[in-house]
Amino acid sequence: MSTDLVTSPTRPGRPPARRRRRPLLRLLVGALALGLVGVLALAGLAAWFWSQADISNLGQLSFANQLKIPPVLEPRVDEAGRKVFDLRLQQGTSELLAGKPTQTWGANGTYLGPTIRATLGDQVAMQVTNRLPEPTTIHWHGMHLPAAADGGPHQLIQPGSTWSPSWRIDQPAATLWYHPHPHGATEDHVYRGVAGLFLLDDPEAGALPLPDRYGVDDIPVILQDKRFTADGVLDFGQSPFSPIGRLGEQILINGTHDPHLNIGHQRVRLRLLNASTARVYHLGFADDRPFELIGTDGGLLERPLLTTRVPLSPGERVEILAEFRPGERVVLRSFPPDLGLDGFQGRFAGADDSFDLLQVRAGPRLTPSPPVPDRLVRHQQLDQAEAASTRRLELNGSSRINGLRMDLGRIDQTGTVGTTEVWEVANRSGNPHNFHIHGVQFKVVQYAGGAPPPGLAGWKDTVFIPPGGTVRLLVQLPGYADAAVPYMFHCHLLQHEDNGMMGQFVVVQHGQPPGNLPSREHRG
Ligand code: C2O
Ligand code: CU
Ligand code: CU
Repeated sequence: MSTDLVTSPTRPGRPPARRRRRPLLRLLVGALALGLVGVLALAGLAAWFWSQADISNLGQLSFANQLKIPPVLEPRVDEAGRKVFDLRLQQGTSELLAGKPTQTWGANGTYLGPTIRATLGDQVAMQVTNRLPEPTTIHWHGMHLPAAADGGPHQLIQPGSTWSPSWRIDQPAATLWYHPHPHGATEDHVYRGVAGLFLLDDPEAGALPLPDRYGVDDIPVILQDKRFTADGVLDFGQSPFSPIGRLGEQILINGTHDPHLNIGHQRVRLRLLNASTARVYHLGFADDRPFELIGTDGGLLERPLLTTRVPLSPGERVEILAEFRPGERVVLRSFPPDLGLDGFQGRFAGADDSFDLLQVRAGPRLTPSPPVPDRLVRHQQLDQAEAASTRRLELNGSSRINGLRMDLGRIDQTGTVGTTEVWEVANRSGNPHNFHIHGVQFKVVQYAGGAPPPGLAGWKDTVFIPPGGTVRLLVQLPGYADAAVPYMFHCHLLQHEDNGMMGQFVVVQHGQPPGNLPSREHRG
């Protein structure tokens, strides 16, 4: 090499090659070394993030705190015979971790909200007053209602004002919920703490011998994961590698950290809601005891399903029945969920995470419960052969549906009131998503190329879709026409939703033209 340098011809006016090449060599070596250090540092950083990304609290809890049960909101009855519910959205201070006050939001309190309860046929009227510092909305997730009462991003409630939607309960008994839905800020508002259960009852479900004493043998279980700073303040940061959004290390159940539940009945019904913004749980008991899955998003199953695990993605609900022996203590746990990701991506999406959620403490003597009925309720049959049309939706990346980001001024889909349709939703991305439709309960007729798993046999309004997976949903469109006010469909991983993975559909009378949004044009 040096021979080369010596003998190389030197042109006049240019520095000799030797003098040019030496610094270049040094530069090259330096750059290589720097590059190596950089690669090592990156690898180290990635390894650090990797090792940090695996979260578990197994064995770390003492179950010191009694599980809080959200109070049931008593309605007043107005002259028209409607049940009127008052919700005041407010901010305040909560002690989510013992001895560490943090700023939170809630409804009729500083964290979460009361349980609303109504019965099939009730005319309900909501009075939602926004005492928060920002405009927000309250959406009744899972409810059949007119689009204008739905509480999606178009029904903004300005600070200081009250929103008063009203509708008639026209669907079976179910565990529904409510939460804010302002476009672009849903994750933030839910994370701060605004959410609550909306339970529906009906005579058919009420006649079944199922545990139904709220807070006694019929227990609400609202699951949320949080990040906290060292002083116990809510942390809004997240891992830069998470493909699904913010994942917390601490679990709150009904706003209770490190909780236990005392029970006095042999058989207990748990109504589980995943009110987390991104985390998917995989529920079961630490001793792997079987339990009965009796309900999903939209109500009871036709028959119970004996199982040991139930996955639950954000927005979904399940009702389970579990049996206990006197004096025993059993932990409800979340096992590593199958997100359909490879090991590397999965780690950053929570696929390796496990959590002790709640310790059930059975009393020394338990009141016997009736056996689990082997038939629950009859479902209205939707006929796939009669489906008027098939809509195809593709989830792209982490912010688009059919290639488009959410636009409040654009109607993406128009359908005819009350008709049955097939919605084919394909996850064309490498990320997990879960798909939610407003105003309806649907049936999953095909899941990732095959028959739906038995746990998806019931009414659903939100369904997990693994990367590359396609689901076919049989949907009966809402029975309320309004060409000017849309319902939403979106990914219920709230960061994806906020980033634009949401679309709008309007429901019109038969033969009416596709919807548009007149209010938007006036503003234009
Ligand atoms: Cu629970 Cu559109 O949301
Ligand atoms: Cu919803
Ligand atoms: Cu998503």
